[in-house]
Amino acid sequence: MLNPRLDEFTDFPFQRLRDLIAGVEPPSGLEPILLSLGEPQHGAPPMIAEAVAANAHLWGKYPPAEGTPELRSAIADWLTRRYALKPGFIDADRHIIPVAGTKEALFLAGLLVVPPTLPDGRQPTVIQPNPFYNVYLGAAVMAGAEPLLMPADASTGFLPDIRALSNDDWRRAAMMILCTPSNPQGAIAGVDYLAYAIEKARAHDTVLVVDECYAEIYDREPPPGALAVCQSLGGGFNNVLVFHSLSKRSSAPGLRSGFVAGDPELIRAFKRLRNYASPTIPVPIMAASTALWRDEGHVEANRSLYRAKFDLAEQRLAGRLGFYRPAGGFFLWLDVGDGEAAAKRLWAEAAVRVLPGAYVSRDDATGANPGQPFIRVALVGDVDSTSQALERLVQVL
Ligand SMILES: Cc1ncc(COP(=O)(O)O)c(C=O)c1O
Repeated sequence: MLNPRLDEFTDFPFQRLRDLIAGVEPPSGLEPILLSLGEPQHGAPPMIAEAVAANAHLWGKYPPAEGTPELRSAIADWLTRRYALKPGFIDADRHIIPVAGTKEALFLAGLLVVPPTLPDGRQPTVIQPNPFYNVYLGAAVMAGAEPLLMPADASTGFLPDIRALSNDDWRRAAMMILCTPSNPQGAIAGVDYLAYAIEKARAHDTVLVVDECYAEIYDREPPPGALAVCQSLGGGFNNVLVFHSLSKRSSAPGLRSGFVAGDPELIRAFKRLRNYASPTIPVPIMAASTALWRDEGHVEANRSLYRAKFDLAEQRLAGRLGFYRPAGGFFLWLDVGDGEAAAKRLWAEAAVRVLPGAYVSRDDATGANPGQPFIRVALVGDVDSTSQALERLVQVL
């Protein structure tokens, strides 16, 4: 027996890419350059290994589901500094739960929030952007909700046009997921946009999930955060959960460490759910995470590297393939006409691996797929290989 909801998914994007290029040999003599996966390659900070070694005696402990007090307070301090929260506005015990990567936590958010049916008997929805991070679909579908996909293309500033939603759309929505800076487009939601989403969510008892895992990878201005917007609106963190990760901020995707913060009722329920679902962070990894949230030096160094790579991209691509310099995140989102064909050619002719935009988007109700013309290029490697890859990309496309 299998859960038929699984039939609603395609394979994960990276499997689809492997299938697309199966049997295609890149030119011999060219070193392959992989820009398909959003996996930062800047090198994990040495403080991780140091903290893990210093806490090796704790491998024998089952990790507490609510995280260590040290980690929760490092996160609360970071949030307070980063978003200029009033001292004490965020409570390390009531408002924060460390999670073993936000991927798992985003998936669980669906199970946390989505009821079997709405009071009027209808199937609930989860509103989400299109293109998207694929786990949003998993969170909606496996929890029994219908995904309501909102196009996020150039005409909407690469963010969903949430003002176009009707009151009934909001009433049906158990959850809305926003991503800022957005993957793949790198668009940043402004304060007014977030405030509108929060107020609408509160008015309709929708849970607003704001995926801020790229919040620390930005070009000029630090992206606003939903918790700071809650502070200015009043009403505490009601109906709002933000998701943050060390994977991108600290170039440590293998650490599996992030956190969820916000509405205390939701956080309490999340702790209960996670006790049954159990993806926890090992205690030595919590110690390393504590050190990372307390350090900004390595984060600034990461940002400088991304800026240097976006400078290169701008030099090579300005005026071509719909290039724009994203305000945040580390992806180029290039309009190549047919993303699958371009990805295949780049592999076959230049040994450069990128992701077709259609693999991070879906046909919407009108049958259009906003990602189809695009490729997503993850600038996650070192500056030299990125420079080479961009050179090859320009030659091929
Ligand atoms: C938009 C977005 N959210 C969440 C995640 C999950 O990150 P992690 O599970 O490493 O915290 C990713 C990873 O690629 C992502 O791109």
